[in-house]
Order: sequence, then structure tokens, then C-alpha cells
Amino acid sequence: MEKIQNIYKVLANERLSQQYWRLVFDAPDLSREVKPGQFVHIRTDERGLQPFFRRPFSVYRAQKYVEIFYDVIGPGTRLLMSKKKGDTLDVLGPLGTPFVMPPAETRQVVMVAGGIGIAPMLILSDVLKMKKYELLLLYGGRDRGHVYPMKEFKDNGVKVHIATDDGSVGAKGRVSVLFDKIDKGPSPVFIYTCGPNPMMKAVQAFASEKGLAGQAACEEIMACGLGACLGCSIETAGGFKTVCYDGPCFDLDEVKFH
Ligand SMILES: Cc1cc2nc3c(=O)[nH]c(=O)nc-3n(C[C@H](O)[C@H](O)[C@H](O)COP(=O)(O)OP(=O)(O)OC[C@H]3O[C@@H](n4cnc5c(N)ncnc54)[C@H](O)[C@@H]3O)c2cc1C
Ligand code: FES
Repeated sequence: MEKIQNIYKVLANERLSQQYWRLVFDAPDLSREVKPGQFVHIRTDERGLQPFFRRPFSVYRAQKYVEIFYDVIGPGTRLLMSKKKGDTLDVLGPLGTPFVMPPAETRQVVMVAGGIGIAPMLILSDVLKMKKYELLLLYGGRDRGHVYPMKEFKDNGVKVHIATDDGSVGAKGRVSVLFDKIDKGPSPVFIYTCGPNPMMKAVQAFASEKGLAGQAACEEIMACGLGACLGCSIETAGGFKTVCYDGPCFDLDEVKFH
């Protein structure tokens, strides 16, 4: 898969909820290459000074344009938030291994996402909606500000269930309160998950108990993004692996969540 570093034009940068933003940029070359689960590495300070390192973001959508979905948490994402239509963006990608597609016999595909972990799920549903699977999204957010309209998912035929810690939207509690929405079988179910490690650990335990397979998109603080510095290594059943190069997508039963 070809990696591209290029300067792209920002087409839109809008707030989707109290907490989350979506940035759209015009990158036809990148859009053709990227697969669900992969990420882009963005130089948020054009001078490369502060922050010095690029910042990784999952690709949220890659159709006519490339989109990322982000939470403003520090200097890099604050700079991203200040981008206006017509500004330029230095982007490297697509990076990392994509999600493995579900086995052909799968009937229900379940996406379990927490917070900003929703980001790789839209592009995944864009691809999976072409297949015969029933698509289910179980989404957990802290409160109303961490939830946003799920229109694009619903347009893709995804059945959406939401839980918030304070019960302000959907069910009250962690996303695990929604696990009873998952098919009891015997039809095969395949799970994708992305979000905080404790949430993915709970998904892993549930999948293990029910004998379900799946994939987890992991996150770690990154520097090079290319597998060179080993700064993003995590523990797996096969030893330490880099999130940026060996991942971010791993088999769900492979990762040792701490
Ligand atoms: C593969 C991958 C995909 C990602 N996709 C998205 C995405 O789609 N949308 C999005 O909003 N964010 C995503 N992230 C996280 C994003 O890269 C960070 O939020 C961003 O780098 C923060 O930069 P900053 O300069 O604003 O804040 P920083 O100053 O770098 O960080 C602010 C605080 O958050 C902590 N932090 C930063 N990154 C992480 C992390 N990955 N895990 C846990 N704590 C962290 C820092 O330690 C610090 O305390 C992804 C990360 C990875 C590795
Ligand atoms: S960030 Fe350098 S190896 Fe992953």
C-alpha cells in the first residue's frame, strides 16, 4: 500500500457536538488508498515546531474527500480546530494495518465504540453496508456533549444504541450495558471495537466468554508513526508490537489490555 505525504486543502472544519469536530480535506490520492482502520499522521503546526511531532487520527470517511473526526484535548488538536476552509494541511498516510473483514458466514457485525473511538467505525460501515451483514453500533459516551447525531451511521443501515455515563442520552451506564443487544446466536457475530482500554478489555472478556471473534483498533501516543522509534509498543500475545505499524488493528484476543 502506497504511503503518501502531501499538502492538502481544507474544505471544512466544523463542530459536530460540544466535544467533537470534523475536518474535511481534498485528498483524492489518499482517498483511493485508505482502508477502514488506517490512520493519517498530521503536522498540526505547519512549521513543525510546536508540537514537533505529527498527530495520528483515524480516517473517519474516505469518499470524494477524506474526513477525520476529533476531540480537542491539547496543543495539536487546538491547532487543528483553528484550521479554516482554504488552509493547507500536511498529511502522511495511509498508515497502519487496516481492519480485517468479517468471515463470509458472519450474520451480524457489531461495532463497539467509546468516545472518540467512533472515528474508524463510519468508514468501516461505508464498506460493510455493501455486504449482507446486519450492522449494529453500540456507542458509549461520557455525557450529551460526547454524543453527536448518528445520521451517517443510520443512513448506512446501522442500528444504533447509545449509553452515557450520566444517562443524558440513551441507557445509563457504560457501553457494556448494551451488550444484550448483540445476537445470541447461533448465527456468527463479528465484533470491532475502538475506545478506551478498559472498555476494549470488557469487550474482549465478553467476546471470549461467548466465543466470538473480532478486531480491536488500538491507540497509543505516537512519534514517528512508521514503526521506527518503538515508542507506541503495546503488549500482545505475540510479544510487544507497535500500534503504528503492526496495528492499530489487531485480533481482539491478541491484545493484552492493561
Ligand atoms: C491510531 C490512532 C488513531 C487516533 N485517532 C483519533 C481520532 O480519530 N480522533 C481523535 O480525536 N483522536 C485520535 N487519536 C488520538 C490523537 O492522536 C490525540 O488526541 C492527539 O495526538 C492529541 O494531540 P494534542 O497535541 O492535541 O494533545 P497532547 O498534548 O498530545 O495530549 C493531551 C493529553 O492526552 C494524552 N493523550 C494523547 N494521545 C493519547 C492517546 N492516543 N491515548 C491516550 N492518551 C493520549 C496525552 O498524554 C496528554 O495527557 C488517535 C490516536 C492513535 C494512536
Ligand atoms: S510511533 Fe514510532 S514506532 Fe510507532
